[in-house]
Amino acid sequence: MSKFFQIKSYFNHWLNVVDEHSIHSPFFFDLYNKVIKKADPDRSEFASIEELRANLLRNKTVVTINDLGAKSPHFKKENRLLSKIAETSLSPESYCRLYDRIIRYTEATQILELGTSLGITTLYLAHNKNTHVTTFEGSPSIINIALTHFERFKAANIELIEGNLDSELSDYLLNPAKLDFVLMDANHRYEPTMRYFNLLSRRMAEKGVIVMDDIHYSEEMNLAWKELSKHQLVYGSVDLFRCGILFFDPAMNRQHYIWSV
Ligand SMILES: C[S@@+](CC[C@H](N)C(=O)[O-])C[C@H]1O[C@@H](n2cnc3c(N)ncnc32)[C@H](O)[C@@H]1O
Repeated sequence: MSKFFQIKSYFNHWLNVVDEHSIHSPFFFDLYNKVIKKADPDRSEFASIEELRANLLRNKTVVTINDLGAKSPHFKKENRLLSKIAETSLSPESYCRLYDRIIRYTEATQILELGTSLGITTLYLAHNKNTHVTTFEGSPSIINIALTHFERFKAANIELIEGNLDSELSDYLLNPAKLDFVLMDANHRYEPTMRYFNLLSRRMAEKGVIVMDDIHYSEEMNLAWKELSKHQLVYGSVDLFRCGILFFDPAMNRQHYIWSV
């Protein structure tokens, strides 16, 4: 990871951000105003999930993790404080709420998350009980913690698949159900990102979306984002800096935007 690269990307992003006056498509205009920029005045419905996050941020238990993704500098087993994992690995509340708004707005029901971690974002994705959320995690100690969280929240609409995405994802995708919302937040490297995308893109519903996390985290993630936002099956994209959204509906006519959250 290069800090210099991230700072340069951040400035580039802000130089290129556009607002609603530059949006010509009615779909993207609505998305911008009703989903991206919409403030959530009522925070109470997610209060219990945020209470759990706050507890994790204070939790000094040491867990042995086996991180298979690029966020860890070591791919071997590593001891980490739970508080540190909660601080560095999870999507922030504002993005979790954004994902919930996208799910509601697109009426997504079949949801997939690559990279469960402690399950905080998963609980947001599963907040609407009409959804079915499948989430993948490869680190056994983390899986056990996430499962206790799902049990505590009685989240019967979450299914956690244990194991390495490299071997498990293609089997899961044999399931013919089309995916409406996918959060790619596991292995933050170019090659696996492209490989997972190629598998996922064939299973996306026409109105489906893929959210890619950390698109400006490194040069290789930035390259993956640039290539995927121009992929032949992608008909629209929105770069929100922390994450990017890819759309698969041909009616979108290849619109690409850079917005601030
Ligand atoms: C950034 S965290 C996910 C954060 C979570 N989506 C959230 O917002 O709360 C990435 C997780 O993906 C898992 N992971 C990375 N590579 C993986 C792989 N190849 N197979 C399965 N899990 C993987 C890691 O163990 C880690 O817990």
